[in-house]
Amino acid sequence: MSALRKIVLSLAVLREACGAIIPPPTGQFSVSRKKVEIPYVNTGDPIAPNNVTTAFLATVYYPTSERFMGPPVPYLDPALAALFEGAYNVTAGSFANLTTNAIVWDAPLLNGTAYPTLLFGPAGIGPPVEMFSILLSDLASYGYTVIGADHPYEQPFIRWPNGTALYGLPPFDSPDIDSGALVDIRVNETKALIDNIPLIEQCLGGIVNSTHIGTFGHSAGGSAAARALLQENRVSSAVNIDGPFLDEDQYADAVKPIFLLSEEVYEDPSWVHFAPEQTGLWKHLGVNGSLHVDFTDLAFWKEVTDVKAHSSSLGDINGYRQVNITRTFVRSFFDFTLRGVPEPIFDGPSDAWPEVVYITVENSTSMK
Ligand SMILES: *[C@@H]1O[C@H](CO)[C@@H](O)[C@H](O)[C@H]1NC(C)=O
Ligand SMILES: *[C@@H]1O[C@H](CO)[C@@H](O)[C@H](O)[C@H]1NC(C)=O
Ligand SMILES: *[C@@H]1O[C@H](CO)[C@@H](O)[C@H](O)[C@H]1NC(C)=O
Ligand SMILES: *[C@@H]1O[C@H](CO)[C@@H](O)[C@H](O)[C@H]1NC(C)=O
Ligand SMILES: *[C@@H]1O[C@H](CO)[C@@H](O)[C@H](O)[C@H]1NC(C)=O
Ligand SMILES: *[C@@H]1O[C@H](CO)[C@@H](O)[C@H](O)[C@H]1NC(C)=O
Ligand SMILES: *[C@@H]1O[C@H](CO)[C@@H](O)[C@H](O)[C@H]1NC(C)=O
Ligand SMILES: *[C@@H]1O[C@H](CO)[C@@H](O)[C@H](O)[C@H]1NC(C)=O
Ligand SMILES: *[C@@H]1O[C@H](CO)[C@@H](O)[C@H](O)[C@H]1NC(C)=O
Ligand SMILES: *[C@@H]1O[C@H](CO)[C@@H](O)[C@H](O)[C@H]1NC(C)=O
Repeated sequence: MSALRKIVLSLAVLREACGAIIPPPTGQFSVSRKKVEIPYVNTGDPIAPNNVTTAFLATVYYPTSERFMGPPVPYLDPALAALFEGAYNVTAGSFANLTTNAIVWDAPLLNGTAYPTLLFGPAGIGPPVEMFSILLSDLASYGYTVIGADHPYEQPFIRWPNGTALYGLPPFDSPDIDSGALVDIRVNETKALIDNIPLIEQCLGGIVNSTHIGTFGHSAGGSAAARALLQENRVSSAVNIDGPFLDEDQYADAVKPIFLLSEEVYEDPSWVHFAPEQTGLWKHLGVNGSLHVDFTDLAFWKEVTDVKAHSSSLGDINGYRQVNITRTFVRSFFDFTLRGVPEPIFDGPSDAWPEVVYITVENSTSMK
């Protein structure tokens, strides 16, 4: 652990964090996270100053043998929490006070086989990767190396590994920028992430799997995950969580396995075009009672803060239940497609998952 990180941690402990604890990971492994700066030069960036970026931020969630010690600590960067408290107009401290009693920073990757690799993209213009920790840490606890990528300047706030903060577009801003271009940047960065696996291995002190790779993401991150599946043959399967398909190219036959997870009624017309093109394994499930932002950590926040009163994109489903559904179905899809584990929960409704609506039934491949 770096000296800086130790100081940050002990300050956090001194602050006697007393807020609600985020749902801990449910798998068998302890979980660590670490930030890695990935070099990638882009001279056509529509958002960056002078249109140039030279790097993006990866935050890796992975199995470790190190166990979390001591009282719970804040799980969000305080500056990020404050920015979103302002954006949602909730009482200062509402998000900054939320804690984890499970995720450690900067521990070594568990020595063993290379867990399959999952590349994650957050929503466009936020929330950033850190605000998906509840999902990403859970996947890591089942033996995945999960790498989230934040694009600087697009994301409202990131903090580089060296501690420098970078503010980007204001949360919820919708600048006059072609969202297709933003998604294309994400796809290129996904390729750069795979190219940089040796660098990530060096930083984590262990092996990262480069033969079994899945992509997934929320909103714009979901669009990019689906597009990366089409464009990049090193990616084996993808999950698009509530993200649109941005143009005709994306309706193409994915051939490889793809899972669309959405609100119960996904009204984006692009998903309708997608269905008839598919010949490979694909699934579309909706979640009754959930809305777009329920697939982020805000599903949990709405149970312990008053954020729901300030957002029209959080539904009536219980947040703990939503967390369980998102975690379980995303993991099960990758367990089947990257590890060959049978997953009958995809085949049709069951008493265990009454909120899950099976939108694809015809032409649906069994995952038993
Ligand atoms: C940056 O890119 C945008 C969109 O492509 C363009 O409109 C703008 O002129 C560029 N800015 C600079 C400083 O090059
Ligand atoms: C934010 O909340 C405060 C207190 O509830 C209220 O007075 C204010 O009008 C709200 N501002 C916005 C922009 O919603
Ligand atoms: C956050 O925690 C502090 C104590 O650390 C407490 O004084 C404050 O009321 C809390 N704020 C909220 C909004 O929960
Ligand atoms: C695990 O650790 C042992 C002892 O330190 C080492 O010899 C071995 O190469 C490591 N295995 C992997 C996969 O890193
Ligand atoms: C990558 O993951 C697959 C699926 O779990 C596994 O079979 C393979 O051995 C892993 N690769 C390495 C180098 O460990
Ligand atoms: C930290 O890293 C970022 C990204 O490379 C860089 O822009 C910044 O100047 C660095 N800060 C310091 C203090 O070196
Ligand atoms: C993505 O990478 C390709 C190949 O390097 C390049 O031609 C294209 O302009 C890039 N797209 C964006 C949006 O950066
Ligand atoms: C969704 O939930 C509502 C309220 O519990 C219920 O009335 C409705 O039938 C459900 N819809 C589906 C498709 O399960
Ligand atoms: C998640 O939901 C399943 C199915 O309803 C249930 O069996 C399981 O106990 C739940 N897990 C948690 C952590 O709540
Ligand atoms: C899907 O199933 C329907 C009804 O069983 C069938 O008519 C259609 O040809 C199938 N389409 C594809 C692409 O397999």
